[in-house]
Amino acid sequence: MERKKIIVGKKKKKEKKINVFRLILYFAIIFVILYFGIQMVRMVFIYAELSNEYKKTQSEFESLKKKLNAIEKERDMIKKMLEEKGVTIKNGKINYNYVHKPSKEQLQRAKQLAEQYGLIYKNRRHLKTNNIYFVVEKNLTVKVKKDDFEFFFHPSIVKIRMKNFISDKKDYLLNNMELKGNEIVLDLTFGLGSEALLISSQLNEGKLIGLEGSFPIYFVVKESIKYYPYKIKWLKEAQKKIEIINDNYKRFIRKQKDKSYDIIYCDPMFENPVFESSALNPLRRFAVYDELEPSDIEEMKRVAKDKVIIKAHVKDSIWDKYKFDKIDGSKNSGVFYGVIYLK
Ligand SMILES: C[S@@+](CC[C@H](N)C(=O)[O-])C[C@H]1O[C@@H](n2cnc3c(N)ncnc32)[C@H](O)[C@@H]1O
Repeated sequence: MERKKIIVGKKKKKEKKINVFRLILYFAIIFVILYFGIQMVRMVFIYAELSNEYKKTQSEFESLKKKLNAIEKERDMIKKMLEEKGVTIKNGKINYNYVHKPSKEQLQRAKQLAEQYGLIYKNRRHLKTNNIYFVVEKNLTVKVKKDDFEFFFHPSIVKIRMKNFISDKKDYLLNNMELKGNEIVLDLTFGLGSEALLISSQLNEGKLIGLEGSFPIYFVVKESIKYYPYKIKWLKEAQKKIEIINDNYKRFIRKQKDKSYDIIYCDPMFENPVFESSALNPLRRFAVYDELEPSDIEEMKRVAKDKVIIKAHVKDSIWDKYKFDKIDGSKNSGVFYGVIYLK
């Protein structure tokens, strides 16, 4: 019995030792698994956070890159514009020494025009003025400037009118002029010369004499119409048959002999101006605003052989003051031509 007891006691002792060891082992394994599990989960969260941050940074980087590209483009554009004006930047310093570099021809023409017209020649760099001044452009045409206003010659509007005339033979002025091609036409109000170019394009053997009362308009148009770089042949040819005089038509017409021109045309500034998309807008600042009187029309009738044509806005007072043989024009634009037949 005693032997049995000893065996039982020994067995019990052995079982206890194994359980503690296993327990420690299990704990250790569970601890390791838990530890690495937690670390793995943490790593997954950190990875997700980092990849989000990376994406954010990458998109910020892309947008900054785009902005930088835009700034660089703008910088290059400004640099080019400044360089064209002669301003250079070297080692962070701005060099204004050569703000404008006129060509030899420009300088020569500016000096020659100043002498011819009794004007004062000044280098653009030394120009400090609130007055009107004229500038000789690179293509040797001339423009006038005053404060922020400038006026220069350009034949854009006449090109459209000629296109319409060629396509459907519809131009109120040309149709009423009924030109044969050998007439001498007197345009009393030359302005930009658009209608004068249109008329003279139809004068194979004739010519057009234009009057302009405003010196700046006369000077700019006269000194540009021959130098303008025309791309269209008919315009180049038309300007050759034009002569421009700086005078007031009221004075000029009274000095002319009876029947000395075939057709007289007069297009004074409207009493009711049409501002919308008008090619005349830049001219307004420098124009003469004389009112057309019936006595002026009587003088025109004396000096013309074939006809007198007057242009005015439908709301202008000349239609009440004077009786024309024919009034023709566009109701849409409100621009009308009054015709007086002399033959
Ligand atoms: C309406 S614009 C003429 C536009 C012209 N038909 C054209 O096609 O370009 C009138 C022009 O006549 C000029 N003018 C007005 N009254 C004048 C006058 N009494 N003597 C000379 N020119 C005058 C103005 O200075 C202006 O340039």
